[in-house]
Amino acid sequence: MPAAVIVEHLSHTYTGPTGSGSTGGLSVLTDVSLTVEAGESLAVVGPSGSGKSTLLNCVGGLIKPDHGTVKIAGDDVHALDATARARFRATKLGFIFQEHLLLPHLTAEENVLMAALALGRSEADAAVPRARDLLARLGLGARGDHRPDALSGGERQRVAVARALLNKPAALLCDEPTGSLDRANAGTVADELFALAKAEGAALLIVTHDPTLAARCTHRLELR
Ligand SMILES: Nc1ncnc2c1ncn2[C@@H]1O[C@H](COP(=O)(O)OP(=O)(O)OP(=O)(O)O)[C@@H](O)[C@H]1O
Ligand SMILES: [Mg+2]
Repeated sequence: MPAAVIVEHLSHTYTGPTGSGSTGGLSVLTDVSLTVEAGESLAVVGPSGSGKSTLLNCVGGLIKPDHGTVKIAGDDVHALDATARARFRATKLGFIFQEHLLLPHLTAEENVLMAALALGRSEADAAVPRARDLLARLGLGARGDHRPDALSGGERQRVAVARALLNKPAALLCDEPTGSLDRANAGTVADELFALAKAEGAALLIVTHDPTLAARCTHRLELR
C-alpha cells in the first residue's frame, strides 16, 4: 500500500497581475517533499505568507504546481484531466476550512450529504445512514435537522468535519480547522477530528498557527 499522501519536489511561483513584478513572479514553494501515511497527521506551520495554504491547495489539486508531483492513494493528482480530478477530489479528499462554509438554507444532515450529492442523487440517498452515524459520533445526533444558524460555532465546525469525512477520504486537508473557535471548543473539535481521522484511516494535513494543535500531530513541516 502506498502512503496516503506523497509530495515530491513541489515548487510553485505565482505569476500574473498579483504575483508578478519586475522580478517575474513570487516564488512561494521551493522543492517541498513530504509523506503522510494513513492514520498519521502532519502539522504545516510557518509565518503568514510562507505558503501553507498554497501547499494545501497544490496537494488538493486546486492549484497546479510548476514542478513536482502529488500522489494521493496512488493517484497522481495533477496528471488527471479536469473531470477526473473533480471526481478524485469528491471521493478521495475531505476539506475543512477556518470558516465552516455550511450552506445556510440546508440542515446539518443535508450539509453533510453535500459531499455525496456532488456524485449524484442515488449516492446521496445511500449515504444517509453514514451521515447520521458521523453526526452521532460527533455528538450531534439530535441536531441533524438544525440549520447552521441554529447551531453553536463549535457544532457548525463539527458538521464541517462530518461533511469532510462522508466519502471516507484517504486524506483530510485542514486549513486552520479550529481557527474560528474559542480555546475550549477548539480543543474538543480537535479531539474529535484526530479520533475520527484515526478510526477512519485518513491522513491528516493540518495548517495551523496554534502550537497546541501542531504539537498533537505526529509530524511537522515548517515553511519559511
Ligand atoms: N493567487 C495568488 N496570486 C499571487 N500571489 C498569491 C496568490 N495566493 C497567495 N499569494 C501570495 O503567496 C504567498 C503565500 O500565500 P499563502 O496564502 O500560501 O500563505 P499562508 O502561509 O497560508 O499565510 P496565512 O498564514 O496568512 O494564511 C503570499 O505572499 C501571498 O500574498
Ligand atoms: Mg493560509
